[in-house]
Amino acid sequence: MTDHELYERAVAAAARAYAPYSNYPVGAAVLARDGTVFDGVNVENAAYPLGTCAERTALSGAVVAGYRPGDLEAIGITASPCGGCRQWLHEFRIERATYLYEGELVTRRVAELLPDTWNL
Ligand code: THU
Repeated sequence: MTDHELYERAVAAAARAYAPYSNYPVGAAVLARDGTVFDGVNVENAAYPLGTCAERTALSGAVVAGYRPGDLEAIGITASPCGGCRQWLHEFRIERATYLYEGELVTRRVAELLPDTWNL
């Protein structure tokens, strides 16, 4: 699957977002090295801080299926990833992220999105 197709998959996933408070649906799609794709959407809550981002639900789905850092290759997102999600992408050693930024589809290396990373 190409990065562009991964982004299109994220766009399709966004239709299933649960975002009644922000009305800002986000979709994500994570590509595993074996070709499996995990979709994610933002899931909001009336207690606002409890909501979660699309990238994190996609990554959580991959983890539940048994995938670990090193098994995942790329992510497509319908929004530029927030700071916390950049840390998640780093944790799972995602190589690159494709998303729409200022009207342009861009592919960035996660190392570029989160430089000088903190590691435990
Ligand atoms: N959101 C994401 O799903 N991913 C991001 O990287 C940025 C923000 C969601 C969280 C919230 O449900 C909505 O966008 C508005 O902030």
